[in-house]
Amino acid sequence: MLTDGPEFPQRYFVHIQSLLRLFLKVPAMSNLKPLNIGVIGYGFMGRTHSNGYKRVNDFFPALQHRPILKAICGRSEDQLRKFADQWQYESTETDWRRLLERKDIDAVDICTPNNSHAEIAIAAAQAGKMVLCEKPLAMDPIEGQKMVDAIEAAGVANTVWYNYRRVPAVSLAKKLIDEGRLGRIFHYRANFLQDWTINADLPQGGTALWRLDAAAAGSGVTGDLLAHCIDTAIWLNGSISSVTAMTETFVKERKHNLTGKVEKVGIDDACAFLCRFGNGSLGLFESTRYARGHKALYTFEINGEKASIRWDLHDLHRLEYFDHADNSLVRGWHQVHCTDGDMPYMGNWWVPGLQIGYEHTFVHQVADFIAAIESGRPCNPTFRDALETQKVCQAVLDSAKCGLWKEIA
Ligand SMILES: NC(=O)c1ccc[n+]([C@@H]2O[C@H](COP(=O)([O-])OP(=O)(O)OC[C@H]3O[C@@H](n4cnc5c(N)ncnc54)[C@H](O)[C@@H]3O)[C@@H](O)[C@H]2O)c1
Repeated sequence: MLTDGPEFPQRYFVHIQSLLRLFLKVPAMSNLKPLNIGVIGYGFMGRTHSNGYKRVNDFFPALQHRPILKAICGRSEDQLRKFADQWQYESTETDWRRLLERKDIDAVDICTPNNSHAEIAIAAAQAGKMVLCEKPLAMDPIEGQKMVDAIEAAGVANTVWYNYRRVPAVSLAKKLIDEGRLGRIFHYRANFLQDWTINADLPQGGTALWRLDAAAAGSGVTGDLLAHCIDTAIWLNGSISSVTAMTETFVKERKHNLTGKVEKVGIDDACAFLCRFGNGSLGLFESTRYARGHKALYTFEINGEKASIRWDLHDLHRLEYFDHADNSLVRGWHQVHCTDGDMPYMGNWWVPGLQIGYEHTFVHQVADFIAAIESGRPCNPTFRDALETQKVCQAVLDSAKCGLWKEIA
């Protein structure tokens, strides 16, 4: 038996709808309009985004555009060729400026280290390209503001890849909060814990370890990990008005891969901060790369007057929910397995009970970006939204330096 009783019609209805859409409404692949993509950077994010572009029309058949993997850009011709063959890109470029000059590129996707985002994004906007940029938006808010100005002056479609918004369980959290189910929010708590830089012999800088080099990354865990937590928090719980923070760099010097010399480490290895939200709630955030045993433990918990929710990246398809209105005999934390067709995004995937994972968040962002272009709406988070996160990151770093509360400018 597939069903477990009266829930059947609802549980399967959305999937049946999706199937019908496939047969009735969907344009044949050949009728889809091409959206020519040029991706810059073929590392971790180059792969996740390429996968997103390749998969999107298979699972979001109502879209009218099909991303075409027109060009992949990087600095090493050999590596590029291999990547282009594996992911089926039509061409390669070894200079991003050349990519921007090409008439056959509609959208530029920036998957390079943080210190290159601003220069590429501003030039891409000025060249009239749509711009999709990896997070954090910039090295600091001054650079970020210039990017926002350039994007808005050019009037081009844009988005920043804060992809955790597009985990179905996180989108469900947004829906529950917006419906008022939590009531007044008192607390927002988030962690992002890793352990991969504990080894003091690990060098900094260069292709593989640019995250440890402040000149390439801008900051350590604050811009790399907390930026995700802050973006999600602002989306779910509104603006952050002030922060007080502490940071620590546990390993003070590391050999630099580019100079070969032992150099001072300029990034924050760990950061914890308290904040006040505009809605009166209190926030507590922690991130580190020194939490032995944790690889990517992103969690958040939100406590409201009527209900609480919590989420854990390691179990990303579940949202935990506590509703004080439940009968006291059965009241308690329960887990919502976010796989039914009426859950955000899930009507486009498999059948109830079968979950999806990390890579799907990028498919969702591509789908939302294309849908936004087609409807003329912005695709959130936009560059302007991501600038807000950048300002909070900067206030956190400034507060850690001076030991004082900082207002968000
Ligand atoms: N959204 C997320 O969850 C997420 C996860 C990881 C990384 N990121 C962000 O994505 C960006 C890239 O991170 P990554 O993990 O993919 O890094 P990576 O080191 O795996 O890849 C970076 C790529 O950029 C290329 N590159 C560097 N400078 C270049 C230049 N001048 N021209 C062309 N190519 C250049 C490198 O050769 C490499 O292919 C960073 O901004 C990072 O913060 C976001």
